Amino acid sequence: MRILVTGGAGFIGSHLVDRLLADHHQVAVLDNLSTGRKENLNPEAKFYPGDIRDKQVSSLMAEEKPEVLFHLAAQINVRKSTEDPIFDNEVNVSGSLNLIKAFLATGGKKIIFASTGGVMYGETDILPTPETVEPFPLCPYGIAKLSVEKYLNYFHRYFNLSFAALRFGNVYGPRQNAFSEAGVVAIFSARLLAGKPAIIFGDGQQTRDFVYIDDVIRACLLTLEQDPASFFNVGTGEETSVNEIFSQVARWIDKPCERQYAPAKEGDIRRSCLATEKIKKYLGWQAQVSLAEGIRKTVQWFKEQALSGKL
Ligand SMILES: NC(=O)c1ccc[n+]([C@@H]2O[C@H](COP(=O)([O-])OP(=O)(O)OC[C@H]3O[C@@H](n4cnc5c(N)ncnc54)[C@H](O)[C@@H]3O)[C@@H](O)[C@H]2O)c1
Repeated sequence: MRILVTGGAGFIGSHLVDRLLADHHQVAVLDNLSTGRKENLNPEAKFYPGDIRDKQVSSLMAEEKPEVLFHLAAQINVRKSTEDPIFDNEVNVSGSLNLIKAFLATGGKKIIFASTGGVMYGETDILPTPETVEPFPLCPYGIAKLSVEKYLNYFHRYFNLSFAALRFGNVYGPRQNAFSEAGVVAIFSARLLAGKPAIIFGDGQQTRDFVYIDDVIRACLLTLEQDPASFFNVGTGEETSVNEIFSQVARWIDKPCERQYAPAKEGDIRRSCLATEKIKKYLGWQAQVSLAEGIRKTVQWFKEQALSGKL
C-alpha cells in the first residue's frame, strides 16, 4: 500500500515507518522536525520536510497519492497547550483538517489517527476507563484530539472516509525524547544514567497506563487490515504509579539512583488507566509486553545511546 506517515521522524512514527517498510509498504514521511529527529528517519521512506498546516500538503498528496494516512504529527506538549491554546489548535486541529481535506481530494481512503487515552477522560473515577465513558479532556491538547476524532467521524459519514482513532495510553520505549515535558520512563532513564536524581512531581503516587511501543505499533498495523470507523483505547488496563516507574528503571541502572520530589504540576490528572475490552473485541489486540520487560528494553537502549555519546 502507499502510506503517508505524518510525524514519521518522531518516537512512535519512526517505529511505525520501520515496521511498515519491513512489511513492504511504500512509505512517505511528512515531518517538520520540531520534536522529531533526522536520525529517526528511515532512508527507505521518502521524506517530505514540511508542516501539516502548510498549503503545500496538497502538492505532496498529489505526488504521493497515499491510500492510507497515519496521522501522528502533533503539538504533543500538554503544558504548552494550556499556555498557548491557539497554537495548539492551529497545529492539532487546523493542521489535521488541512491534511484530511488534501488527502480526500487525491482519493485517500483511510486515516489512522494518534489520539489520546491519557487525557481523554479527564478526572473520571471509573478506572480502568472504557470508551463508553464520556470524553471530558481538561486541557486544550485533549480537546483538540477529541475534535479531530469528531471530524474523522464527520468525514466518514458524509465523505466515505474510513478511519480509526487510537487513544494511546502513556507510550514508552526506545527513541522517546528524554528531554521533553512528558515520557517519564525516558526522562528517568537519561537522568539516572547521567548520575542525576530523577525528579518526581507531587508524591509520585499519581498513576498512568504505560504501554510499550511494540504493542502500540501492533495496534496501528491491525487497523490497516480492518475497517472499524471507531475509536479505541490502546493501553494495558494496569495502573502504575510514577514511584513504581522510578523503582523499575533504577533496577537496571548500574549505579546508585536518587529521586527528588518537587511540587505537583498544576492540572495533572491523578489517576489514568484504560480499559481495553473494545480493541480486544474488534481488532483482536491486547498488550503483550510486561512493564518489567518493556522498561528493561528501554533502559538498555538508553544505555547504548549513552555509551555511544548520543544521549
Ligand atoms: N507518546 C505518548 O505517550 C502519546 C500518547 C498519546 C498520544 N500520542 C500521540 O502520538 C503521536 C506521536 O507522538 P510521539 O510521542 O511520537 O511524539 P514525537 O514528538 O516524538 O512525534 C511527533 C512528530 O510530529 C512532528 N511534528 C510536530 N508538529 C508538526 C507539524 N506542525 N508539522 C509536521 N510535523 C510535525 C514532530 O517533529 C515529531 O516528529 C502524537 O500525535 C501524540 O499526540 C502520544
